[in-house]
Amino acid sequence: MAAFVTRRALSRASCLAAAFAVVAAASPFRLGGPGDWRVVSASALRPSTVCTPAEGAGASNSSALKVVHRHGPCSPLRSRGAATSPVEILDRDRDRANSMLRKIAGASATNAVRASMGVRLPAHWATASLGTNNYVVTVGLGTPARYFTVEFDTGSDLSWVQCKPCRDCYEQNDPLFDPAKSRTFSTVPCGARECRELPSRTCSPDNRCRFECAYADGSQTDGDLARDTLTLTPSDAIPGFVFGCGHENSGFFGTEDGLIGLGRKSVSLSSQAASRHGAGFSYCLPSLSSGTGYLALGGAAPANAQFTPMVPSWDLPSLYFLRLTGMVVAGKAVKVPAASMLIDSGTQLTNLPDGTFAALWSAFARLMGGYRRAPGLSFLDTCYNFTGRAALQVPSVALVFAGGATVSLDVSGVLVRLGSDEPHVACLAFTSTGDDAPVGILGNTQQKTFAVVYDVANQRVGFGAKGCA
Ligand SMILES: *[C@@H]1O[C@H](CO)[C@@H](O)[C@H](O)[C@H]1NC(C)=O
Ligand SMILES: *[C@@H]1O[C@H](CO)[C@@H](O)[C@H](O)[C@H]1NC(C)=O
Repeated sequence: MAAFVTRRALSRASCLAAAFAVVAAASPFRLGGPGDWRVVSASALRPSTVCTPAEGAGASNSSALKVVHRHGPCSPLRSRGAATSPVEILDRDRDRANSMLRKIAGASATNAVRASMGVRLPAHWATASLGTNNYVVTVGLGTPARYFTVEFDTGSDLSWVQCKPCRDCYEQNDPLFDPAKSRTFSTVPCGARECRELPSRTCSPDNRCRFECAYADGSQTDGDLARDTLTLTPSDAIPGFVFGCGHENSGFFGTEDGLIGLGRKSVSLSSQAASRHGAGFSYCLPSLSSGTGYLALGGAAPANAQFTPMVPSWDLPSLYFLRLTGMVVAGKAVKVPAASMLIDSGTQLTNLPDGTFAALWSAFARLMGGYRRAPGLSFLDTCYNFTGRAALQVPSVALVFAGGATVSLDVSGVLVRLGSDEPHVACLAFTSTGDDAPVGILGNTQQKTFAVVYDVANQRVGFGAKGCA
């Protein structure tokens, strides 16, 4: 409730401020130096209707998986199911962000309680809902390999697919994985280390390890913990990969075939592949939904990467946190209190603590005062109508992390389009958490075009500009 009131108040303030700015700064583009504005053609924010695969080092790397936008023209999922409306995508994104933020708040509250009373943490935290992540990869499972299009999630650990026989399955893109048709499939016995490390498990009468994943929105999957060969690329397969073979999967929205977990725990793909590839992974998300990016295992970083330490989070052992220490808008530092930011591949928009969002918003809206405002959509309320403009001049926005890593966002990480119905409208691609707690989420929109390197061996995250187009 409090969050809603705050957002309403901000949106009202935004109209007033914009009206004022047009009068006060008739020619806002004269402010600041040359590097302080990004000039892009108006079409730079518009995806093509045909798939336009990226070129470049990361994208052509044969040991990397191709990352595509779930709703874009490169996605194998696109032809399936009804199109999702922009409002629906935003609402799901808000649900995911809220469930992540609740989880973080719950952990720190429990931490405080535990510190004072010696209470233990609950064994199992529900993870965020499936179907919110906009980026998918295609992987092979079994021998011979069958191919599945799955979302990849830095916010959870256990990978899983829907499996035959299925008692309760949602409709998915590809035929279900059939263990009987793979000659390398086996189930994991209850005594195995991989089973004992699962937060929520049971043992079947015939000693098979059963997993259970409950998601924050009430959806859930359970089935057998299993092993089989995971084929990443034609030249790279991981034998004996541990994953969940889901026989009962209820309440999911997506049509993707399952999930690849990249969290910090030992059951995640990155942890299981560490002995072959080195600890860590990297990805690059394309600027447009018609482009492609990559996901690579191992902690190799491009030469231009700027690093910031991972912030330890003992009570949330799956998640990666960074420390945001400042922001720079059009070359000018915006003073904000430091905040812990969950870096998440699955949340779309960056969620900032209220005060930090307000500071960014007022600097940005003032500098954008020369553009006509447009009605917002859902909680995106700082929107502009670029009709008739061939080129856009957008103030640069940089996020500064502990250790001085300065991540100067691509324009696709500053403005987000509302969808194909409004080709000339784009909105500030940030939102507030609805709270002043010094915690936020670094969403995937702001990570676009960077090679984002999770260097687990050195406990740091790097951002390399121009990792993909
Ligand atoms: C390809 O990716 C691997 C693993 O991330 C990395 O070690 C290698 O340097 C990359 N090669 C190129 C040409 O980028
Ligand atoms: C944007 O501006 C154009 C031209 O004035 C107008 O026709 C259109 O309705 C506007 N769109 C929105 C969403 O404000």
